[in-house]
Amino acid sequence: MKRFLPTTLKSLWEKPPCGSVVDVHGWIRSLRKSKNVCFAMVSDGTCQQPIQVVATPEQAQLLSYGASVKIQGKLEISKKAALGKQQYELLAEKVDLYGKVNNDYPIQKKNLATEFLRQHPHLRVRTAKQNDLFRLRSDTLEGVRSFLAKSDFIETNPPLLTSSDCEGAGEVFLVTPHSKKKDSTNSSEFSNKDEQSPSFFGTPTFLTVSTQLHLEALALGMSRVYTITPAFRAENSHTSRHLAEFWMLEVELAFIETMDALAGVVEDLIKYLVQYLKKKGYHREHWNHLMNEWHRISYTEAIDILKNSGYTWHDPPAWGNDLSSEHERYLTDVYIKGPVFVTDYPASIKPFYMKPSSNDTVAAMDLLVPQVGELVGGSLRKDSIALEEVPKGLEWYYEMLQQANTPHGGFGLGIERLLAFLEGNATNVRETIPFPRSSGSIFA
Ligand code: 4AD
Ligand code: MG
Repeated sequence: MKRFLPTTLKSLWEKPPCGSVVDVHGWIRSLRKSKNVCFAMVSDGTCQQPIQVVATPEQAQLLSYGASVKIQGKLEISKKAALGKQQYELLAEKVDLYGKVNNDYPIQKKNLATEFLRQHPHLRVRTAKQNDLFRLRSDTLEGVRSFLAKSDFIETNPPLLTSSDCEGAGEVFLVTPHSKKKDSTNSSEFSNKDEQSPSFFGTPTFLTVSTQLHLEALALGMSRVYTITPAFRAENSHTSRHLAEFWMLEVELAFIETMDALAGVVEDLIKYLVQYLKKKGYHREHWNHLMNEWHRISYTEAIDILKNSGYTWHDPPAWGNDLSSEHERYLTDVYIKGPVFVTDYPASIKPFYMKPSSNDTVAAMDLLVPQVGELVGGSLRKDSIALEEVPKGLEWYYEMLQQANTPHGGFGLGIERLLAFLEGNATNVRETIPFPRSSGSIFA
């Protein structure tokens, strides 16, 4: 590939060819012009470290803040290197300008508010902060895949169009065909074909909220499977951890019999990932606390802890109700001060597919982490199921469990929440995905 493509800053920094003439491509992040010399910081987004370009006033006439450029020059040790500052600099020999920014370019030099940048998702990737986060996202996905491949998991691709609401929470988006009307007299440019034909698929069809049920089918033939896939939920929540379109790692295993084993896979995965990222040069202070054994408590214990906390709750904890975010926060940030698995939830608040763990609880597991709350949701799946227990349209799922079912289980992990957790500093999921979608906002 290197034969055909220009050098990236990432590869340049891996083995700086000091004294050689190189071509650098990128965008100008900052610029300092004086009478005799011009300094430009150029970044191409492939790594964190930009390169300092030293140009003459004549060459600098082509350089302006934000511009995309190609600069040919000699890589030298910077005069400031001895002071521990910028180690290398590029002494420009030839400057080419690809494009300039206009006066109305919203990504100005000053520190811009996160909320402001969110309104310019197509341009905010030019900031160092977003660059860093999207690289962390890429390396995180690489780390996840590395762990799963080492543990004999097979990456697979279940469908995103489904005829059922897997979680049963009713937060689905309906999919209907639309087409541009040629001879439209209607003010709306688009027409809903559903008005003419009952349905494209012959049955109401939704964007998936979770690919779990199809993944179960695949696990019951390939033992260990996973997918990293978009999921869609029409949740009207404007919180720092909810998106209408998010990415989920879903893992499903056959021949798994205990919650301890399932939680163990999650714990090992995240610990491996942290080590993987450290090896790649990432460091975050709070990661050091993650290497201890993680706590596991039952839902019933969690309710007792919350009731005995002495706190006045907005939403008082009660056995049989879901944990709210203030409850999750107390458990992770105040009581445990770290990640905690909460297991064995009341059957009444969980979906139909979970294996019972007592008369009124199921073998469900949520991983709660500081600042973010629920990061993972999973369970052991039922060993056997009656047709009446299965929601309409999922007869195939019933039939599947009649055919050589095995003990199996799995979990879903929200990628944006994982990144918000890894990044720390109360990062909002909207910054961890390039083009966030949530109720009332699609900017690009
Ligand atoms: O707990 P959930 O709903 O679990 C399932 O969907 C299971 N069927 C997964 C499985 O067992 N294969 O969702 C899993 C995770 C959550 O813990 C959370 O991290 C993330 O998906 N998630 C969201 N992330 C961002 N925005 C939303 N609206 C999310 N809803 C869930
Ligand atoms: Mg959940």
